[in-house]
Amino acid sequence: MSYKHIEVTPISGMIGAEIHGVDITQAAIAPDVIDEIRHAFLENLVVFFRDQDLDDDALVGFGRKFGELAALPPHRQVPGSYPEILVVEKQPEDNMVFGWEWHSDTSHLETPSLGSILCAKIVPECGGDTLFANQYAAYDALSDGMKRMLGDLTAIHANGRILRTLSEKEMPPPGTESESAVWSEMWMEHPVVRTHPETRRKALYVNEMHTERFKDMSVEESQPLLQFLYAHAARPEFTCRFHWEAGSVAFWDNRCATHLALNDYAGHHRLMRRVQVKGDRPV
Ligand code: SIN
Repeated sequence: MSYKHIEVTPISGMIGAEIHGVDITQAAIAPDVIDEIRHAFLENLVVFFRDQDLDDDALVGFGRKFGELAALPPHRQVPGSYPEILVVEKQPEDNMVFGWEWHSDTSHLETPSLGSILCAKIVPECGGDTLFANQYAAYDALSDGMKRMLGDLTAIHANGRILRTLSEKEMPPPGTESESAVWSEMWMEHPVVRTHPETRRKALYVNEMHTERFKDMSVEESQPLLQFLYAHAARPEFTCRFHWEAGSVAFWDNRCATHLALNDYAGHHRLMRRVQVKGDRPV
């Protein structure tokens, strides 16, 4: 497609494009411009904007142009802000980062997020980049035999692994995850290959952070094939790497892309804010 209102510049051969020529901090963005952004998003799987000083009102306002936003569980909400705004922060003394393994946001939910919009407030001078991987390309590159086999498989996605990788002092007492109001263990089954509801293309839909096993198989039986798929899905040629500046914004499609936040900036502060557009049940 040729764009009339925005400039769209791919940043790699398979995924990701920077968009210039639009001020997304404005409450009123012409519908034709939003249509072009949506088209660039579907075509490139993740789009990036630079120098956008999005406050919470503008972040929520921009997100709502693409659909209803998902509210966060109460313990993740910022008091006095919108229930849809997630703070993603790593302090200089922290060891872990949010989103440190390849994942597609909230794939443990019945209706995972369509897309996430992340904007950078404070970033380290270097490090703290985010990687994105094209899961249409990952699916397309599989053999016909593997595609046939995966087409019949369903996977179980959970947030339990996230709970299990937290430090002991952050963990809830054993056995209470599913009852606690703050730490609820959730899981959902989804097809291993999903069809994107808008592009109709097939994408691989398993991820290291949330996928526990295949349905009707044990974790041990599932892991060898899952580990192959994770390595395949993150092949360097399917990826791009985005370097953040304060005021950078990324909008990615969780239905066909995975991402990973790099943990390579020990001793530095990184502060981001995110909203998520609600999605459909994967089919
Ligand atoms: C996320 O997984 O949404 C966080 C990505 C990042 O902080 O770069």
